[in-house]
Amino acid sequence: MSDSVYREAILDHSRNPRNKGTLEPSDFTYEDVNPLCGDEIRIDVRTDGERVTEIRFSGRGCAISQAAASMLTEMVEGRPLDEVKAISRDDMLEELGVPISPARMKCAMLGLKVLKAGIYGVSPADEAL
Ligand code: FES
Repeated sequence: MSDSVYREAILDHSRNPRNKGTLEPSDFTYEDVNPLCGDEIRIDVRTDGERVTEIRFSGRGCAISQAAASMLTEMVEGRPLDEVKAISRDDMLEELGVPISPARMKCAMLGLKVLKAGIYGVSPADEAL
């Protein structure tokens, strides 16, 4: 796909976020902020013990952070937890499909960082994503 198709997808996800909301109760919930800007993402997940059965995100932030979190929820819904744990920064960048400048990298990875923190129960260092 061309860059413009990916840009459209990011705009679409930021304007019409998928899986936006909260789950109460959830099997795990985590939230974090981008320390550079104060933007926040919270992710709530339900599992059947092996797979992600439901996922919601909430928060506020720039188009990239919100679109990336929305895309991430679509990537992981229904997938085994082991596969979700293996999602890398490169996988997230591939899903976004457009070059992400170093200044926006924390925006693009905020949702993934929060999701992994929820799964592992600790916040991973950025380099570990
Ligand atoms: Fe805050 Fe992007 S500017 S997450």
